[in-house]
Order: sequence, then C-alpha cells, then structure tokens
Amino acid sequence: MINFKALFEITYGLYIVCSGDKRRGNGFISNTVFQVTSEPAKFAVCCSKNNFTCEFIEKYAHFSVSVLVKNTEPEIFGRFGFKSGKDFNKLEGMNVKFGMTGTPIVLNDSLAYLECNVVQKFDVGTHWLFVGELIDAQILDETNEPLTYSYYRQIKKGIAPKNAPTYIDKSRLDRKMESSK
Ligand SMILES: Cc1cc2nc3c(=O)[nH]c(=O)nc-3n(C[C@H](O)[C@H](O)[C@H](O)COP(=O)(O)O)c2cc1C
Repeated sequence: MINFKALFEITYGLYIVCSGDKRRGNGFISNTVFQVTSEPAKFAVCCSKNNFTCEFIEKYAHFSVSVLVKNTEPEIFGRFGFKSGKDFNKLEGMNVKFGMTGTPIVLNDSLAYLECNVVQKFDVGTHWLFVGELIDAQILDETNEPLTYSYYRQIKKGIAPKNAPTYIDKSRLDRKMESSK
C-alpha cells in the first residue's frame, strides 16, 4: 500500500504564477515550478485546468513567477491560493509591475521573479504542465530567504486546496496510518 506521507518528503518552493496584460491579469499560488533545462533555460509550471489563471496562460502564452519570501504574509496565500480570480480582481491593490511580454508580476513578498514564454504544454489530466523559455529574471531582495513548501506546512501550518497537484486527501493519510498500526 502506498504511504502517502512519503510524498511530503518531496521538496518544493512557493511562488505566485501570473499571466495576462495591463488591462486584466491573474495569478495563483504554485509549489510546482521547476527548471527543466539549462540551455536555453526553461521552466515548467503545473496549473489546474480549473484555475482561472490557466485561461490566461493559454491565451497569452507567457507567465511570470514571483519567488515568495520565507515570511510571506498569510493574506497572500488567502488571496492567491484559496480564492479565484473568477470572483474578483486579485491584482487590484497589489504591487504589480509588467514584464517584457506585458505579463503582470507580483512584487509583494517576493525576492526574485522570472518571466517566460510558453514553448510547450502537456496535458497531464487534471492539470496542464506549461513549459516556458526564460526571457527575463531579476533579484528584488538579496537579504531574504525563499519560502519552502515544508516550512509553509510545518511552521506556518499551511494547507493546500484540491487544485494543488500535491494535494492529499486526509482520508488517504489516515487510511495508511490505520493500516500500519
Ligand atoms: C500551498 C499551495 C500550493 C498550490 N500549488 C498549486 C499548483 O502547483 N498548481 C495549481 O494549479 N494550483 C496550486 N494551488 C492552488 C491554487 O493556487 C488555487 O486553486 C487558486 O485559488 C487558483 O486561482 P485562480 O482560479 O485565480 O487561478 C496551490 C495552493 C496553495 C495554497
């Protein structure tokens, strides 16, 4: 039987992934951003087909990635990780700059950002895996440390909603714990 607790030993960072333009954009919290090649530098991001941001990435074929700082305000997770841009404009009132492609980039609680053009996409079922070629990357704050998913889970007691690819239903964890008694 699979021990789903082992999946929590996989390490990730935490990011805001955005797409759109100056008129309308949107973003979501992601722990599934990772570099896939070096020359040229390409990054993958795994995005639920239900995420409003998915529509923007498909339409605009570009995205930004803001690297969140260790002590990111809980409000950022509430706004970008548990609410949908289908219901309100998430970028309103945020500190946003627009990248070379025109994509919005969230600067709040971010220590660096990347900007990518989508070059490939893979249908992985519930999610799209978008692969983007890096066209810009900048450091915003050299004094801070990036937030890891394990710090968010253990210290901040943070959870992830169903749209997160790494979401694990509590009953699956409990079932394994019962069977190993
Ligand atoms: C810690 C955390 C990690 C997440 N990781 C992902 C992810 O990698 N991919 C994804 O599609 N959703 C992920 N989510 C869920 C989205 O951020 C969430 O569904 C968001 O509300 C979607 O916003 P949107 O509909 O405005 O695009 C994560 C949420 C949290 C809190």
